Amino acid sequence: MKRIVVEGSQWGDEGKGKITDYFSQKAKIVVRFQGGNNAGHTIVFGSKKFAVRLIPSGIFHKGTTCVLASGMVVNPEAFLEELAIIKEAGFDTSKVLLSDRASVIFDYHKMLDGARETALGKAKIGTTGKGIGPCYTDKASRIGLRIGDLVNEKTLEKRLKNALEFKNRELESYGLAPLKFSEVFKKYKKLGEQIKPYVCDTSLFLQKEVKKGTKILFEGAQGAMLCLTHGTYPFVTSSSPMANSIPLSCGIPCNSIEYVLGIAKAYTTRVGEGPFPTELFGDLANEIRVRGHEYGTVTKRPRRIGWLDACVLRHAANISGINGWAVTLLDVLTGLDEIKICDKYIYNGKTIDTIPATLEEFEEYQPHYITLKGWKEDITKVKSFDELPKNAQNYLKTIEKLTGVKIALFSVGPDRKQTIVLFDPFEN
Ligand code: IMP
Repeated sequence: MKRIVVEGSQWGDEGKGKITDYFSQKAKIVVRFQGGNNAGHTIVFGSKKFAVRLIPSGIFHKGTTCVLASGMVVNPEAFLEELAIIKEAGFDTSKVLLSDRASVIFDYHKMLDGARETALGKAKIGTTGKGIGPCYTDKASRIGLRIGDLVNEKTLEKRLKNALEFKNRELESYGLAPLKFSEVFKKYKKLGEQIKPYVCDTSLFLQKEVKKGTKILFEGAQGAMLCLTHGTYPFVTSSSPMANSIPLSCGIPCNSIEYVLGIAKAYTTRVGEGPFPTELFGDLANEIRVRGHEYGTVTKRPRRIGWLDACVLRHAANISGINGWAVTLLDVLTGLDEIKICDKYIYNGKTIDTIPATLEEFEEYQPHYITLKGWKEDITKVKSFDELPKNAQNYLKTIEKLTGVKIALFSVGPDRKQTIVLFDPFEN
């Protein structure tokens, strides 16, 4: 297969960076298609650890072209900072392509993100504060600027003037000082000049490569439950992390996608607010949080912890057509006497195994669990499925049974070498 997707199947932070890094070795192109620097993908090799937010994780492989496609929202300052860090670490950044149709995150988007969250008070979303929502809002209300506008002085001047008129009114409505056009223009004109060498029509580029049969990896950020349409709305991000959104966000034909790899952490985590039926509290949650280093890459917030929820995985699989699972952080569960998986919910005395549209209803859902025996053996050095203790094998088999989707690979530690691949779509 030539075109595969790495998609988060829970609430983000499933360990996508590591899996993307693995498949990037085989892909000629790695594409980010949505979101912006709200994502944080951590990659570990040897003693080195990198966290990328905007640039596709393929950047650490020589010769890989990294595309930031049209569906993304890009903060040009953050983009340049990240490029500088990567360059300084000795990696080649000359093959980074930034779509001229991607949306620009301005300082005012970040300011509005913070102001809205404060105004929401207890009802806050718990955003990453990077201006993602306000930027996508401007895109939909057609007063946003795109990267193509930023690199053209005349368009920048015209569109920024128009946008600032509305944005300043909004800032003032939150009691914030309006921004001076001349200052914003000066700053972003310079940023536009700096990013220009990377900017092109990435749709045309990708269309050609799809036709040629080049191996392309699409790297999702966040996860299915944070999808603007199919997630736990309104506690979601403002784009769709699902594979379904790739053709549109990249400007390529609908039938381009050949394989969707759903990334599922062996348990569940969530940052930010919103319903989470399998959430755990107390010592067990703390133990898993510490062992799994469950603190936000971007915000450093401690993540909420819960048992694996098979209903969530099925929801993602049914919408995106997930072909195989990559189960990550399996080693974090080592040492537990029992491990639970939610197979359905109980609501008003009835059993339900799907995700409802309204969060008020979802908040009332009680998880129904099946309980499996844990394992005590160290699994961080296993090289095959057969080397796993029987109870760990059983855990993976149960995930397959409950979701109807095969395990394509599993991961038993942060290093590149600790990935056990059972089915490699690029080799099949
Ligand atoms: P935003 O994307 O910053 O607007 O945040 C909206 C929601 O998505 C919040 O609950 C965030 O915590 C969550 N979110 C955004 N990006 C990520 C991510 O990369 N991992 C996990 N959660 C995320």
